[in-house]
Amino acid sequence: MSNATSKTAPSFSRLTIIIHWLTVLLFICVYVSMEFRDIFERGTPGRDLMKTSHYWFGICILLLLAVRLFARFSQPTPAIVPQQPQWQHQLAKVVHLAIYLLMLVMPVLGLFLLSADAVPLRLFGAELPALIAADAATAEWLEDLHEIGATIGYYLIGIHALAALFHHYWLKDNTLVRMSFKK
Ligand code: HEM
Ligand code: HEM
Repeated sequence: MSNATSKTAPSFSRLTIIIHWLTVLLFICVYVSMEFRDIFERGTPGRDLMKTSHYWFGICILLLLAVRLFARFSQPTPAIVPQQPQWQHQLAKVVHLAIYLLMLVMPVLGLFLLSADAVPLRLFGAELPALIAADAATAEWLEDLHEIGATIGYYLIGIHALAALFHHYWLKDNTLVRMSFKK
């Protein structure tokens, strides 16, 4: 497909595009803040900042999900040109659904984990109420689930990004252009 055609073909709404790339940025922040927390010693302000940032970046992903679903479903999905085979369409749907679940389940698990761990979450100095009672055993399995979810997330996001690049550079259709900021 020529560049001229892909630029004039229908796109996702500007709001959907902004939210998509903002979510990508938030995911980078949420992973980096936790994976690199060890650069600061336990109990230091730097370590606390990394962890608190992780919690809030994750909560922002959850909040953005609501706006995203509204923006996404208030307009029809722009067509991929040239048309892709049905199996690719179905596979993309499954991966997108799994990513939506990731954006919902991971922050929710994290919030329950904090409560089970008796770690208070503060907003403008006020302590937010705990969702469940503190309990070490519950915290342990919630943490395991959260960690497994994070690993699945790496694979899902990796597959999704590679598929987008495959569409753009190999199949040369407008999949990625539809999700890009155009002049
Ligand atoms: C999409 C959102 C999220 C992703 C992808 C994510 C990912 C991760 C990752 C990769 C880890 C490190 C696991 C390890 O130990 O190797 C982690 C740990 C943790 N996350 Fe999340 N997380 C998300 C949201 C949240 C939220 C919203 C909260 C709480 C409000 C939270 C609370 C925690 C806690 C308490 C830990 C345990 C580690 C510690 O405190 O040292 N997470 N998360
Ligand atoms: C944290 C990383 C990412 C997340 C959470 C994410 C999430 C999503 C979700 C949920 C959709 C489905 C939209 C719908 O309902 O139709 C989507 C679509 C899309 N994403 Fe991502 N994405 C991420 C990274 C990327 C990257 C790195 C690229 C490019 C290399 C990309 C390119 C696209 C494209 C082209 C679409 C439209 C696909 C289609 O209509 O079939 N995404 N993304």
